[in-house]
Amino acid sequence: MITFKTVEYDESQNRLVILDQTKLPEEEVYLTLKTAEDVYHAITNMNLRGAPLIGVAAAYGVVLAAHRGNPVSAGKACDLIQSARPTAVNLFWALERMRNRMRQAKDLYKELLQEARMIEKDDKESCQKIGALGTDLIADGSKIMVHCNAGALATSGIGTALGIIYTAKQQGKDFVVYSNETRPLLQGARLTSWELCKNDVVIYTICDNMAATFMPEMSLVLVGADRIALNGDVANKIGTRGLAIIARYYHIPFYVAAPISTFDFALTCGKQIPIEERNPDEIRMFHGRNIVATSARICNPAFDVTPAELVTGIVTEKCIVTPPYEENIRRLQ
Ligand code: MRU
Repeated sequence: MITFKTVEYDESQNRLVILDQTKLPEEEVYLTLKTAEDVYHAITNMNLRGAPLIGVAAAYGVVLAAHRGNPVSAGKACDLIQSARPTAVNLFWALERMRNRMRQAKDLYKELLQEARMIEKDDKESCQKIGALGTDLIADGSKIMVHCNAGALATSGIGTALGIIYTAKQQGKDFVVYSNETRPLLQGARLTSWELCKNDVVIYTICDNMAATFMPEMSLVLVGADRIALNGDVANKIGTRGLAIIARYYHIPFYVAAPISTFDFALTCGKQIPIEERNPDEIRMFHGRNIVATSARICNPAFDVTPAELVTGIVTEKCIVTPPYEENIRRLQ
């Protein structure tokens, strides 16, 4: 079903080939990353993005640095890549796995490559399981609102929120998707429309400020996550909290889809989640044009936190977690 590869490690040349998401939907082009620094830049520039995919790419970034078997280079690669983006906990989770493996490794490169491949395999399997568990949420005739891109482009598999949609589609269910464009970087407009159209899913792209207008018609809202605290508070792309508030007003179920690697068991609530503040030019500029008065100040938080009380359930690879969140999230560990 998925005809593109978001990441592929080429062992013969020790290089990582990634689909350049900044060029979509106009061009499907691939970038070759040869060093951990390249991976760091690809993550910060968002050539690749989405919490699970960032984790997978980070692991391969460490492999690139470990090619000559030098643990110092591999350790430095972990430190550098870890600083690329602060919110998605999958990045830190994947690097922690790589560091643990590094400590015990006899053949550094071989073992780190094995670990990175395992992280990728786990990600693919989690997506499949999330899809299989979440498909029950979709009934024939559903209208589903999604935000940002939590699809195949955000993982190495079929995606999380969109993984559920692909599974429902495969089962022959009849439904339509409403995708918010997701300003400022338009992951919904550029990426979600691209991958859903490639897979013949009926999709309407709407502006973010149309969400309240269309919400009363929706059967459910389905989003991804970048980090989930113990109490069930969910950090995801900016705008998610607004959707959850609107959904609650209209009594529309609001579901999050995320692998267990997205849970941060060390954080008791969402207030502790670091929120990335990105370059103001992402808002100031549009298609190379300055669209904001030059002396206006700009706020550009990339994520927000949706309080657990607005979340109907969280679809993981193990089960659909429902309240009481703290008790049920602890059981995932
Ligand atoms: O800034 P991005 O594009 O990396 O943000 C991505 C999201 O917010 C996704 O919803 C989240 O990472 C889940 S992807 C399965």
